[in-house]
Amino acid sequence: MGPKTNENLKAAFAGESQAHMKYLAFAGAAEKEGFRNIGRLFTAIAFAERVHATNHHEALFGSTPTVKNLETAVGGENYEVKDMYPPFKAAADQEGEKQASLSFHFALEAEKIHAVLYSRAKEAAASRKDFQVGDIHICSVCGHTIVGAAPDECPVCGASKEKFRKF
Ligand SMILES: [Fe+2]
Ligand SMILES: [Fe+2]
Repeated sequence: MGPKTNENLKAAFAGESQAHMKYLAFAGAAEKEGFRNIGRLFTAIAFAERVHATNHHEALFGSTPTVKNLETAVGGENYEVKDMYPPFKAAADQEGEKQASLSFHFALEAEKIHAVLYSRAKEAAASRKDFQVGDIHICSVCGHTIVGAAPDECPVCGASKEKFRKF
């Protein structure tokens, strides 16, 4: 692939991915304000941006084997745990940015678990086995990730059991 196209696809993938999330957030805000159809418009176009992001990703990387994808995923999670979130949180604390600090804290705590789960999954996939894992529960407030039953209270943010979504 030409270097310019490679660079452009990466930029477009990042932009469309962000637009997807931004529009979902805007949809939630619109619904809260009682604009149901505007919420629906944001939700619909968020999905279109997701399609674009998926297509750009496909054009960039094609389809890659799961063992390699898990390696990429472990690398990304470890980067966030070791190099990204600790200094981000420290800077937010220094600037007195409480909400940002909490948001970084929630992410940091979850990413540690993600790294472990992905690396176990990688070991399984490397020996051509699926990952033997039961229910996975995610806290919809902080992203805390639990294998097994949802706890009565999220150990990271204190949210109640009903806030967990099962996968
Ligand atoms: Fe993660
Ligand atoms: Fe939580």
